[in-house]
Amino acid sequence: MSVVSYQLEGDIGVIRLNNPPVNALSHALRSGIQDAVTQAQDDASLALVLMCEGRTFIAGADISEFGKPPMLPSLPELLIVLEASKKPIIAAIHGTALGGGLETALACHYRCALPSAQVGLPEVKLGLLPGAGGTQRVPRLTGVKAALDLMTTGAPIAAAQALNIGLIDKVVEGDLLSAALDFANEVIAQGAELKRVSDLEVDKTTASAEFFAEYRKTLSKRLRGQEAPHRIVECIEAALNTPFDEGLKVERRLFVECMQSSQSGALQHMFFAERMSSKVKDLPKDTQLKDIKRVGIIGGGLMGGGIAMNFVNVGIPVTLLEISQEALQRGKDLIAKNYAMTVSKGKLTVELATQRQDMITGTTDYNDLADMDLVIEAVFENLDIKKQVFAKLDNVCKQGAILASNTSYQDVNLIAQSTSRPQDVIGLHFFSPANVMKLLEIVRGDETSDEVVATSMAIAKSIKKVPALSRVCYGFIGNRMLRHYAREAQLCLLEGSTPQNIDAVMQKFGMAMGPLAVGDLAGIDIGYKAREGLTDEQKGDVRTYCIADALYEMGRLGQKTGAGYYQYDPETRQRSVDPVVMEVIEAQAKKRGVERKVISDKTILDRLTFALINEGFKILEEGIAQRPSDIDVVYAFGYGFPAYRGGPMFYADTIGLEKIYHTVCEFADTYGEEFWQPAALLKQLVEEGKTLTQWANS
Ligand code: 3HC
Repeated sequence: MSVVSYQLEGDIGVIRLNNPPVNALSHALRSGIQDAVTQAQDDASLALVLMCEGRTFIAGADISEFGKPPMLPSLPELLIVLEASKKPIIAAIHGTALGGGLETALACHYRCALPSAQVGLPEVKLGLLPGAGGTQRVPRLTGVKAALDLMTTGAPIAAAQALNIGLIDKVVEGDLLSAALDFANEVIAQGAELKRVSDLEVDKTTASAEFFAEYRKTLSKRLRGQEAPHRIVECIEAALNTPFDEGLKVERRLFVECMQSSQSGALQHMFFAERMSSKVKDLPKDTQLKDIKRVGIIGGGLMGGGIAMNFVNVGIPVTLLEISQEALQRGKDLIAKNYAMTVSKGKLTVELATQRQDMITGTTDYNDLADMDLVIEAVFENLDIKKQVFAKLDNVCKQGAILASNTSYQDVNLIAQSTSRPQDVIGLHFFSPANVMKLLEIVRGDETSDEVVATSMAIAKSIKKVPALSRVCYGFIGNRMLRHYAREAQLCLLEGSTPQNIDAVMQKFGMAMGPLAVGDLAGIDIGYKAREGLTDEQKGDVRTYCIADALYEMGRLGQKTGAGYYQYDPETRQRSVDPVVMEVIEAQAKKRGVERKVISDKTILDRLTFALINEGFKILEEGIAQRPSDIDVVYAFGYGFPAYRGGPMFYADTIGLEKIYHTVCEFADTYGEEFWQPAALLKQLVEEGKTLTQWANS
């Protein structure tokens, strides 16, 4: 079946695109549109309507064609044909018009959209810029500031806002085809004027050299380390200062630069990784999903409250269980505070915030969880306590309910064994703050049923999380790798570096925060308490935690006590260097017989990132993660790893596995085999001369 059809409806020629799932601009679609527009030039039509079948208008260029030999017509060429049409073309938008999709609509002469439609230019999220005239056409319609915001955030806007800023001409109600035909007839009645965006001038009063300098400064902060946003600014400057055709040439040159950049390669990898991570390799296609209409949450602390918000935000009522009325009230107050913050930022109305909080029912009685379809335990991180909770759940919950633990370390198999229904038990590991962080690590126990795994994946999607599946091991994918990263940060501190230096190196690399600043944010007590129950052997080498323990024992628990690896201003929470910390570090080094020396930034970076990567390889060889890209998803969405480096495993391929393997071997010689043992899979791939991506695709 052809992806483009063309039909006359009275005086109007209707071009319909049908390229599921999202009408991406594949070669077939581009050629089909070009043929239809060419055909329409000589027929009886007086105007044309361009619209899409299925769930959405065009979602952009076909990302799966990137990097392959180009096939004509290219999108920019097609859009020149569209804009040059001698009959007016009306784009009729439903769903989302994104990237090249919006650019296609902008090359039409008029645009109408349903109220539910959204438009946007998300190319920046792929390390790109709008490369089919978007950077030149949008500012001609909206002015410079709105165009920059649209392109550098990549966030879609609703039809009403698009109308407001001049991006579309009309919001239409009811049946899109009839509304578009009516609009086309209006255009014909008014003389079928060809409104070409390229004929417009950019409003010169909307921007100055100072404005651009200031905008660039904010971008450097907001999108630290990213190249595409700065190229977007350059394109908009060209739109302001040069004729349309010259501007297009600047756009093309900078688009090609973006396309060839490693950042774009990494972000494209993340686009597909994010979508792949919800696919479970060994699940039969016909696996039944359970219906999740009511959710119980045990524990109203920071985690439990955040988890509850995720569900009520999408209209699923929650019963929140705490041990006492006081604890329950504290939990509800915390949730109220969170919602108040969202309201104060203008992201939610007071009415909606109240409605959502009203969907949370408090209880102290486990019997009230009897009818829940899903119960998530978010109590203290202690195996015995969790086992007791699950034994109680086993007694009260209806058959078939999913019993989930939000544990970040504990053995989900052992938790499952405390029930008579291990097939219904799974780990749903949310990340703090749970109402904000996108990652949901789904931990599949040995006996977890296919239905429960598949339903958990579907739950993640319904609450707008990005899932990644893990098998059971200590810390699962994310925290297991993190231990090795944190170990190297501690060892670098002891051996000669400083918190501010290590954090600066990792931030420069692109991490959202450095490891020591994260330690202060999370609380130094967390690691200390986790170690309390362990034997010396389980705790590992004392050098990997002695500084943290010393700070803990001084009451320096991090931000919450105003001091940890740094000291914090009580008002602003601004951190600053504290000389006391250096005294602690030096005293610990002396006590452990470590001679402190200067450690280069490069060594710090390699030690921390290669520790992550090496453990990632072990996780893959043990089958804990399904695929390398799932690990990348975990790190980009849960641990602030820069998406423009593609996650740790993609980053490994970009550095080269041979280099990593040899450096890990050198580290084993220099820092000790107890810390550094190259993963067998890493060694194997180096011997076979393969990349990790090749291994994953084989
Ligand atoms: N190209 C190729 N495949 C695409 C695609 C695209 N632009 N957009 C989505 N897909 C695929 C996805 O990979 C997924 O495939 P799968 O089912 O095999 O996993 C399928 O379509 C459905 O996608 P989602 O799961 O994301 O579906 P949703 O309904 O959740 O979201 C969407 C729909 C909002 C359109 C979302 O897919 C999206 O944001 N897509 C990307 C849009 C984009 O980035 N466009 C710009 C492209 S770059 C460009 O246009 C350059 C130009 O300026 C020259």
